[in-house]
This record gives sequence, structure tokens and C-alpha cells, in this order.
Amino acid sequence: MESPSPFKGDILKGKVGLLTGGGSGIGYEIAAQLGKHGASIAIMGRRKHVLHSAVSALQSLGVHAIGVEGDVRNKEDCARVIETTVKQFGKLDILVNAAAGNFLVPSEDLSPNGFRTVIDIDAVGTFTMCQAALEHLKKGGVIINISATLHYTATWYQIHVSAAKAAVDSITRSLALEWGTDYGIRVNGIAPGPIDDTTGTSKLLPEKVLLKRKQESALYRMGKKWDIAMAALYLASDAGSYVNGTTLVVDGGIWLSSPRH
Ligand code: HXC
Repeated sequence: MESPSPFKGDILKGKVGLLTGGGSGIGYEIAAQLGKHGASIAIMGRRKHVLHSAVSALQSLGVHAIGVEGDVRNKEDCARVIETTVKQFGKLDILVNAAAGNFLVPSEDLSPNGFRTVIDIDAVGTFTMCQAALEHLKKGGVIINISATLHYTATWYQIHVSAAKAAVDSITRSLALEWGTDYGIRVNGIAPGPIDDTTGTSKLLPEKVLLKRKQESALYRMGKKWDIAMAALYLASDAGSYVNGTTLVVDGGIWLSSPRH
């Protein structure tokens, strides 16, 4: 059962949030929590049926929600999705870049195009969405980029994702500096650890790796999507007013000990 939110239900009242990859996993849970705390929500994704059921689920929670099909690798899609969101809700306040690509593969077997595909989705896609949204975020908007902890050391069979998420963290810092100074836009990231019931863990990581991760955690448990959504609420709301350019690690403390597996 979901834990009750520690935040007041109206902290994002009147705000509009757009989430890439918002149709499933961590992206969906952030969409649901932003919505339950007052924001109108647009979710962007490549798969029509996934978007459709996510929008129905959001609406059944009482959230004003729309789904807009699009691929963050396509610049025209990014611009169209943002325009559709603004047309529907009148503005854009919060952009969450949660779209990601991943698969496990030994470096010697990964093709340059496989490497490029993940860089394109995670890093270039994040940059393209941020740039396309800029004009609308200039009235005090917030950007949250979903990252990972894979690249803090090195992670087996994840050379492409590690490189992509390192780039995402760097994008977060650069935009926080430039757009924080010029426009008052706060740009932050969240680096989830292993989160229960997501593609990144349940489908990609073997059981023994997950057990080791849990054993390494200072809190001795896997994270929940809810944990990541609460971090997003903090960063998106006025509670995070003075937080800019950081990537918040939400992994129960695993990064402190040993991310090796
Ligand atoms: C080796 C692979 C591969 C695999 C794809 N490729 N899957 N190489 N092993 N398992 C290679 C292909 O051969 C091709 O290179 C290139 O990648 C592009 O593949 P496509 O299938 O044409 O790409 P596309 O259809 O656009 O799909 C994108 C994708 C796919 C990323 C490859 O897996 C996808 O869309 N996944 C859904 C999103 C997802 O996985 N989300 C989970 C994120 S979890 P060649 O050279 O043959 O042309 C996450 C958490 C990270 O990010 C931290 C926790 C671990």
C-alpha cells in the first residue's frame, strides 16, 4: 500500500507539469504525485497504448491529465509536445525528463549505434526538451532530470547508460548555472538507486545483484517509486527554492558503501 504523502495536497496547485517517459515506471509515479498535489499533467511517450492507460489512471486519481505521443530523439516531436501542453493548460512550470533507454550488454558486444541510441534518448533528449521548453519556463520554471548512480564508479554492462547519465548530470549543472542566473529557472536531478518494480531493476538486473544492492544499503531495503516521487515534489515545490544544480541521490545510502556488483 502507498504511504501517505508528507506534503500538503495543494503545494503545486495551479502548476503545469510535463513528464517525458511519464507513461510508466518512475516517470508515471512522479506524474501521479505531482498531479495529486495540484498540478495539471502532460505525459509524453512513444507508445500510444501505454500513454492511454496512464492518462486513464491519472484521471481516475482526479488529476487533469493529457498524453502526447512523441520521441525525445525527434526535435519536432519535442516542440510539438510542449506546444500541445501549453495550448491545453495555458503554460508550463515543471519539466521532468524521465525518458530513458537501457539494456544490459558487455562493452565488447555493443555496437556504436547501440551506444548512440541510449545517449540520444537520455542525454540529447534531455537537452532537446530543456531547450524546447525554455521560453515557457522563463517565469520561474523548474526542470528535474532523472539520472542514476551507475557512473559514480563503474557498472558492469552499462557503459552506454553510465556515459549517458554522466552527461545528464553535467547538463543539469550547466543549465542550472546559465538558466538559473539568466532566468531564475532551477535545474536539478534525481539519481535513484535500485527501485522496486521498474524496468531498470525487475527486468534488467539479476536477482543476486538486487540482493547485494539491498545488503549494501544503509537502510536495508529497495527503494520505491514513491521515494523518487517525493524527492521530485520537494525539488518541484517551493520547498526546494534554493536548490539548484544538484543531483539528489535517492538510494538509501548505497552509494556510500559499494556500488560494485
Ligand atoms: C545489444 C542492443 C540491444 C541489446 C538494442 N540494441 N537492444 N544491443 N543488446 N539488448 C542496439 C540495436 O542492435 C541497435 O544497434 C541499437 O541498439 C538501436 O536499437 P533499436 O531496437 O533500433 O532502438 P529502439 O527501437 O529505438 O529502442 C531503444 C532501446 C530499447 C533503448 C534500444 O531498449 C527501448 O526502447 N527500451 C525501452 C526503454 C527502456 O528500456 N527503459 C528502461 C530504462 S531503465 P545496431 O548497431 O544493431 O543498429 C533506466 C535505469 C538505469 O534507464 C539504471 C538502472 C539499471
